[in-house]
Amino acid sequence: MRIEIEIERSCPGEGQAARFQSFHVEVPRHATVLDTLMAVKNQEDGSVTFRRSCRSAICGSCAMRINGRSGLACDTQVEGELRRHGKLRIQPLAHMPVVRDLAVEIDPFWARVRAVQPWVERPREAEPSWPVEQETRMPQSAAEEMDDTSKCIMCMSCFSACEVAEVDTRFLGPAALAKAYRFVADPRDTNTQNRLATLNGGGGYWDCTRCNQCVEACPKDVKPMEAIVHLRREAIRAGFTGTIGSRHITDFLSIVRQEGRLNEGRMPMQMKGFNPFKLLPVLPLAWRMWRKGKLPLPWHWPIPGVSQVRRIMDRKGGARRKSFVVGKGDLK
Ligand code: FES
Repeated sequence: MRIEIEIERSCPGEGQAARFQSFHVEVPRHATVLDTLMAVKNQEDGSVTFRRSCRSAICGSCAMRINGRSGLACDTQVEGELRRHGKLRIQPLAHMPVVRDLAVEIDPFWARVRAVQPWVERPREAEPSWPVEQETRMPQSAAEEMDDTSKCIMCMSCFSACEVAEVDTRFLGPAALAKAYRFVADPRDTNTQNRLATLNGGGGYWDCTRCNQCVEACPKDVKPMEAIVHLRREAIRAGFTGTIGSRHITDFLSIVRQEGRLNEGRMPMQMKGFNPFKLLPVLPLAWRMWRKGKLPLPWHWPIPGVSQVRRIMDRKGGARRKSFVVGKGDLK
C-alpha cells in the first residue's frame, strides 16, 4: 500500500528548527512504523535520521512519538495507526534534546538511571561469609516481586510520556524510579534504607502525580507507576513519614479508620497542623469547595458500621507483600 508519513525534522546543532516533512512510500500491508522509516531512508531521503537496532522490540533503540504517543517504531503497525488516527506523524521523544530528526540526546536519561545506583549493594565486610563467587539464589516469590521492573529495556518511552518530566527537570522519571524499586525489592541488596532516603527528596518518588501515562506508554508492561507506589509504601514502612506525600497517605488512612470515610474538611488540618498561617493558602480552595457543597464539617460522627471498615483495613494491612513475607535474611 502507498502511504504518507510525516516526519518531524530538525538539526539544532546546525540551526535547523523543527518542521514536518511528508514522504510517500510503498510499504507492505503489515509494515511497522520502523519499516516505513527504513523505506523513506532507502528510497526517498538518506539523511532522515533515527535509531534502530534489533527490529524486535528488544533493544529499545527505536522509541519515538507516533501520532503523539511514545512507543517503539518496530512494535507499532502502520495499518492500526492509520485506522485510529487517519495519518502517520512521527516525532522524536519528548523532554530530551534532539540531536537530529528522530534521534535524541540520551545522556540526561542515563544520568537519571545512574543516580539510583542500579546495582546490588552488598558490602563484603557486612557479611564476610557471603559466597560472592557462588551462584546466589533467591526465593521465587522475591524474583516475582521485581519481575515487572526487570523487563525494562530502557527505551525512554515512559520518560517521554511523563507529565512531571515535562515541567520538572529534577524528576528522575518513571524508568529510573522503577529501576530503583527493582533493587529495593531485591533481597540481596543491603542498601534499602539509603536508597529510600535518597529518593525521599525532590525529584524522587513523591513527585510522581500518578497520571499513568508511563504505564500506557511502556511497550514491555513494566508498570513504572506501580513500582513508584511500591517505593512510597516501603518508604513509609521504613519510617520516612515527614513529607507532604507520605502524610497525605497516612492521614488519609487515619481519617478513614476513625470516621469510616474520607473527610475533606479535616485533611488540610490533619496534614498541616492547626497553624492558621499554614492553612491560609488552602482557604480559597476550601471556599470554592464549600460553595459547591463539597466541603463537609471538619468533624462529624463516624458512619454506621465503621467497625467493618476498620476490619477491612486491618485485613488489607495484614496481607503483606511477598518480598517482605520472605524477608531479606531468607536467601539460600
Ligand atoms: S529496533 Fe530494537 S526495540 Fe525497536
